[in-house]
Amino acid sequence: MAKKPTTTYICQQCGASSPKWLGKCPCCGQWNTYVEEIVQTTDRIHSAGGVLGRGISNMAVKVADIKTENVSRINTNNNEFNRVLGGGIVPGSVTLIGGEPGIGKSTLSLQIALNIPQKTLYVSGEESASQIKLRADRLKSTTDNCLILCEVTVENIIPQIRENKPGLVIIDSIQTLRTENVDSSPGTVTQIRECADLLIRHAKENNIPIILIGHINKDGNIAGPKILEHMVDTVLQFEGDSSHVYRVLRGIKNRFGTTSEVGIFEMMASGLREVSNPGELLLHNHEENTSGVAVAAAVEGLRPFVVEVQSLVATAAYGVPQRSTTGFDNKRLNMLLAVLERRAGFKLNTKDVFLNIAGGIKIIDPAMDLSVMVAVLSSDLDIPIDNQTCFAGEVGLTGEIRPINRVEQRIAEAEKLGFRRIVISRSHEKNTAILKHQIEIVHCGKIEEVFRLMFVGKRK
Ligand code: TYD
Ligand code: MG
Repeated sequence: MAKKPTTTYICQQCGASSPKWLGKCPCCGQWNTYVEEIVQTTDRIHSAGGVLGRGISNMAVKVADIKTENVSRINTNNNEFNRVLGGGIVPGSVTLIGGEPGIGKSTLSLQIALNIPQKTLYVSGEESASQIKLRADRLKSTTDNCLILCEVTVENIIPQIRENKPGLVIIDSIQTLRTENVDSSPGTVTQIRECADLLIRHAKENNIPIILIGHINKDGNIAGPKILEHMVDTVLQFEGDSSHVYRVLRGIKNRFGTTSEVGIFEMMASGLREVSNPGELLLHNHEENTSGVAVAAAVEGLRPFVVEVQSLVATAAYGVPQRSTTGFDNKRLNMLLAVLERRAGFKLNTKDVFLNIAGGIKIIDPAMDLSVMVAVLSSDLDIPIDNQTCFAGEVGLTGEIRPINRVEQRIAEAEKLGFRRIVISRSHEKNTAILKHQIEIVHCGKIEEVFRLMFVGKRK
């Protein structure tokens, strides 16, 4: 028997609940996140006796006795997407793709729906069928295998899945869905949790993979309860600067593969192009010998690529100098500037420092540190770095250059792209595998050595 609906206040950030409104969530510490939601509870037998008395449905088994099935993954015909998932979609798996508005989540998922050989049901709660058709026309693919359903009620979506038996279901987006089980409005924690639960249960029971698209909030986390990320098998983040053309699809959680792989795409007029060779994209105006530019031999995922770091150091117009970065962690830049000041004696505390990673993509690779420091100093001293040299090294708080992973791959990539010299940590001196390369390898132990090499006696 259904009880009288009661209201409760739920934190939209972490899902914590309280019988009365609170300004600050005691669980996650966020302000102003409590929203009143109606909770309808039905009587359920929750007593231990009830559960235990029902008989055991699953028996404990020895791990050695468990038979493994050879799961064949579904090829999405999109190499970058397959790469991030670890080789394709696992049947029955649930993937959550998060990203900022306008970054291309709908484009990516529609492109997958149109190219995958399996029958796909694309459920949109955000766009009309004709809007989706317009987008499909832009993507220039014609297929009879993709069904579009503009619907927001889970109770209507599940019968459609049953009827059409698709090989893949895409939900755009989980925040727009609602279920009749709960009375709160779409997008609230209770609705998201309940809708996701219904869909995930259906997916697992029928072995149908689902891709859920999720909005992100202003902190960059997927909107809705954190528990959503625990419920799904894979969480992918689609990121990039929407004013630039490059997009990175990054694995945050993956129950079936690594999270260290990334997929790189370029947004074109006709959809997202896979960038299988990232080396091609990030070297802009490389011929010019301008100050403030240094090239890093970076690794993103498992792939090495060479990327240009640009910096501009200018006298601060206002009292507090600005530190502004695109594609690089602001805190890391502050740390590197502090190291520059303390260990190398460069005073930048009255200057604005701007830093850009070319192409607008975000790179989380500690080996970028050295090139960032060199680019900043190059701009400050107005001495250009020769365009035949690239850098790969993490910088520690004492100014030491620390070893990095995949150094051989980085060196090979730099050599392939025609660089003559690469500066790396002294710790790699014992690595004999790197000696086979033609490129000159300079080992440095401290940042001072790099600065001496790059700047002393080179003033314009
Ligand atoms: P969209 O997939 O709607 O983003 P999201 O679902 O993440 O909010 O992408 C929207 C942007 O992508 C839009 O600004 C236009 C651009 N775009 C292209 O440049 N080329 C295309 O072929 C398509 C379909 C979109
Ligand atoms: Mg969208």
